[in-house]
Amino acid sequence: MPGWAHRCEQVFTGSLADIELVKRIAMQVQADLAIIGPEGPLAAGYVDALGSCGVPAFGPSRKLAQIESSKSWARHLLDRHGIPGNPEYRVFETNHDLQRYMEELGSFVVKPDGLTGGKGVQVFGEHLHSIDEAVEYAEAVLHKLQKVQVEERLEGEEFSLQTITDGETVIHCPLVQDHKRAFDGDQGPNTGGMGSYSFADFSLPFLEKADVNQAQLINERVIDALSRETAEPYRGVLYGGFMATGSGVRLIEYNARFGDPEALNVLPLLDTDFVELCLATSRGELARVDRAFASRATVCKYVVPAAYPDASPPGVRIATPSVDAGLEDLRWFWAACNEDDEGVSLTSSRSGAFVGIGDSVAEAYVVAERAAVELEQRNPGKVRHRADVGSSDVIAKRIAHMNSLRGACG
Ligand SMILES: Nc1ncnc2c1ncn2[C@@H]1O[C@H](COP(=O)(O)OP(=O)(O)O)[C@@H](O)[C@H]1O
Ligand SMILES: [Mg+2]
Repeated sequence: MPGWAHRCEQVFTGSLADIELVKRIAMQVQADLAIIGPEGPLAAGYVDALGSCGVPAFGPSRKLAQIESSKSWARHLLDRHGIPGNPEYRVFETNHDLQRYMEELGSFVVKPDGLTGGKGVQVFGEHLHSIDEAVEYAEAVLHKLQKVQVEERLEGEEFSLQTITDGETVIHCPLVQDHKRAFDGDQGPNTGGMGSYSFADFSLPFLEKADVNQAQLINERVIDALSRETAEPYRGVLYGGFMATGSGVRLIEYNARFGDPEALNVLPLLDTDFVELCLATSRGELARVDRAFASRATVCKYVVPAAYPDASPPGVRIATPSVDAGLEDLRWFWAACNEDDEGVSLTSSRSGAFVGIGDSVAEAYVVAERAAVELEQRNPGKVRHRADVGSSDVIAKRIAHMNSLRGACG
């Protein structure tokens, strides 16, 4: 059996779409708690189904998960409740006016209105090189999903705010900045995320206090609006993807779950027992939980197959990292590999991630970078990582970028 299945106590296989099977399994193992990680099962209603047979689940119900599964629903929700943060946008159900609106915006982004595994959004100037090409792409999306969103292209620095909530109480996680591009210097195609960092003060050095407050307030107001609109409490994580611009914070999108890699930055800092936290969230008792993250910085670095994000030949064996489990400041998280009696082999996806923890990002960087380099050296030509994630150079560039945008607006 592939992946890490044989490390599990019990493994069940079946279709993820088969909710009845999931319910039967939950009953059979007498589950105390289900933690629903990915967006697909949330959008399919796993939380509702498990709840109906008495199993508490960490994650929003199907209705509430629309905040991620429909980007237009999320934008409209903000508008209906007067919550700031939306860029200029329009949702199209036919191609009427599509071209005119694109021309009016000049620089824009085309977004399918559904889950696309992070592969649907196309940015004018990056993926789309002419209005004709953009119209063609938007029409293809319309044909497939009957809805397409076109929005103003924002310029700024992206960051993520994950807020854990039971619908009433909120716990904001430290802010994180992810690096989506495959290669150093933010070059190459987008990936699932090559690495990310967080600061010991839980903010990011290119943000002003007002930006942090605004992002937190937007998440809080959205949680409140969601609960009021659906008459159901939002329980789980609300992940806001934001862009700090020269004129304040804008919302890029919402996810209804922890981010990958962002979860790897924040969860090792959690002072509370994670399972207790999830249980309390699913029961609406988050107020009783001691909420604290250690005031430390993190740098997460994914190690990926050499050809990633392109396909790799299957079955390439790798020497595994030698992380001393007692080493508090370095963590290793396995990802998309297969393990069998002979060891570990690569797939075409990200192999695993190191997380360095330190009193400063500079310290955390050294810990994560050293570990990633060592693993690369033990597997020459097989794996690689981004050396620049969390480096002082990159962070200085982010700060300079924001300063220039603020100067231009000020
Ligand atoms: N309005 C926008 N302006 C500029 N860039 C954007 C905008 N919307 C999305 N992007 C870029 O596209 C990426 C993916 O878009 P997002 O809405 O997060 O969709 P998904 O994560 O589902 O692919 C973002 O991380 C950001 O880099
Ligand atoms: Mg996104």
